[in-house]
Amino acid sequence: MRKKLIAANWKMYKTPDQARDFFRDFLPLVKGHDRDEIVVCPTYLCLDDAVAAAKGSNVAIGAQNLHWEKEGAFTGEVNAAMLLAVGVTHVIIGHSERRQYFGETDDTVNLKLKSALEAGLIPIVCVGEVLEEREASLTDDVLRRQCLRAFHKVSAKKAVRLVIAYEPVWAIGTGKTATPQMAVDAHAIIRGEASECFGQEFADKLRILYGGSVKPENAHTLMSEEEIDGALVGGASLDPKSFAAIVKY
Ligand code: PGA
Repeated sequence: MRKKLIAANWKMYKTPDQARDFFRDFLPLVKGHDRDEIVVCPTYLCLDDAVAAAKGSNVAIGAQNLHWEKEGAFTGEVNAAMLLAVGVTHVIIGHSERRQYFGETDDTVNLKLKSALEAGLIPIVCVGEVLEEREASLTDDVLRRQCLRAFHKVSAKKAVRLVIAYEPVWAIGTGKTATPQMAVDAHAIIRGEASECFGQEFADKLRILYGGSVKPENAHTLMSEEEIDGALVGGASLDPKSFAAIVKY
């Protein structure tokens, strides 16, 4: 049995004050909940407050991005060592918004993945097709390509803590959710690719989350699928009650 991981992706929302308010209200709602792992990924600016607020609780803190270099002249960037230094344990890599608006490619995803694994962070690598690709029956090809290139020159040994999030781009922030069957089919493709790259045993243990308009209303149906190992939640994770309801699906 794979323990499910429910992760909040706050994107560019919340100031440090608002982050502290969230944890004040959220932590009591999920106190003692150990069926699933819980991760909250705020903006860089809120990481310090989030780590302090969540200290000693059952909630881990993740970042939404990282740079792959150890240090250097990369204005505006933050690397794995810096994230670890402030108490971050997880990092989202290759979110579709980063691919769409910030020029992130399969190659930068690969560099970021290698750097996160090397540093000991738990990477949550996002993959997923856009609507045109789904309509052209290219979903499987896109997922295989994204995985294959993300995993390039990564060893099974190094990748043991890898988490994948399947996020169909047409379902993100749109209120449209993939049907459980669509998610299950996509997860099977991703697991198959992981098996090709890292072996069956690795693939059997790999956690694959679903993301894209997960809400308290649909969380139970999605999370009841054995093949769905958790959720990456955007909009519905900003409110403590709503995110707690998803965690407790
Ligand atoms: P959403 O975002 O839940 O608002 O659709 C999910 C995500 O982008 O990770």
